[in-house]
Amino acid sequence: VLTVPNVQDLAAKKLKEVPYRYVQCEEESEHVAFDMSDQVPVVDLQNLQHHDLTISSNEMAKFDVVCKDWGFFLLINHGVDEELIRKMASNAEEFFDLPSEEKKAYAQLPQSFQGYGQAFVVSEEQKLEWSDMLSLHTLPLYQRNMLFWPKKPPSFSETLDKYAFEMQKLTFCLLSLIAKNLGVEPKKLTSIFDDGVQGTRMNYYPPCPQPEKVIGLSPHSDASIITLLIQNNDLPGLQIKINGNWIPINPISGAFIVNIGDAIEIMSNGLYKSIEHRAVIHPDRARISIVGFQDPRQGVFIEPLQELLERTNVAAKYKTVNFDEYLRGYFSAKLDGKAMLDLIKFEQG
Ligand code: SIN
Ligand code: FE2
Repeated sequence: VLTVPNVQDLAAKKLKEVPYRYVQCEEESEHVAFDMSDQVPVVDLQNLQHHDLTISSNEMAKFDVVCKDWGFFLLINHGVDEELIRKMASNAEEFFDLPSEEKKAYAQLPQSFQGYGQAFVVSEEQKLEWSDMLSLHTLPLYQRNMLFWPKKPPSFSETLDKYAFEMQKLTFCLLSLIAKNLGVEPKKLTSIFDDGVQGTRMNYYPPCPQPEKVIGLSPHSDASIITLLIQNNDLPGLQIKINGNWIPINPISGAFIVNIGDAIEIMSNGLYKSIEHRAVIHPDRARISIVGFQDPRQGVFIEPLQELLERTNVAAKYKTVNFDEYLRGYFSAKLDGKAMLDLIKFEQG
């Protein structure tokens, strides 16, 4: 881990111009016009599980198309207590509002991704992102390092503990539904997640006087099975790349922003997409996102589901990967679109 400046402190200096190391090439931060009709779809979990078969099969069919075409959706009626979601978001906000010195008590240590700091900084020369983060291993329990869990606000740990289990439950539920849509036995998908690894990352994006020159988080796809995101306010900052256009996600209060990760793209043999996304910055408001990465259990090998290949009569498009190695590769490089996933694709043709 290379130590780089704290961006929240940097932003507080109210500089007129962004320091050189944060200026991305214009191309990357270019704001592309998009069609307003392209709004990320809403999926209703209650309808997916509805006892009225007409309702559930309609919603399941829509869910299938969403996973194929968008890879991202807003999940409503998800059953997670909205009060808990609000509390998680406000606890994160209270943590980032602490004086710098107090937050630094939780600073990342060398060779560790847990704690307060940055990720994906691998060289002294690379461009830096306009954000700070607090990264924690939240599940399984034995992977927690409580030294990095903030003691302020006092309810932080209890809230995150509850929130972590709720995210895990929701993941199981979504995985079973995804398996059903893929026409495979649910266990084929859920078994990789028994005792699954969950990382929770809280991103702090301070305002920036020249927002078009910086990037909050570089374009990437998530290595996860699925990712569940909430934020502290209704600022759109997350953008997804669909057909070459960057489309902003307008959050819905109380809803999760969910996305399919690389592990599902691999297991579904590319039928479901792990979509490239990035975070952009607002000129005068800070935004916080709380991101739960639901990863496979340790030591699991990921490959296109045999049942699916046989049924669709399509050859495997991805190699079998040891997911621990995949993650190691993912975290040892700068975020770079879908570069990691491309490495394990079989050559076309
Ligand atoms: C992420 O991609 O992990 C977070 C993006 C965001 O903050 O919205
Ligand atoms: Fe992401």
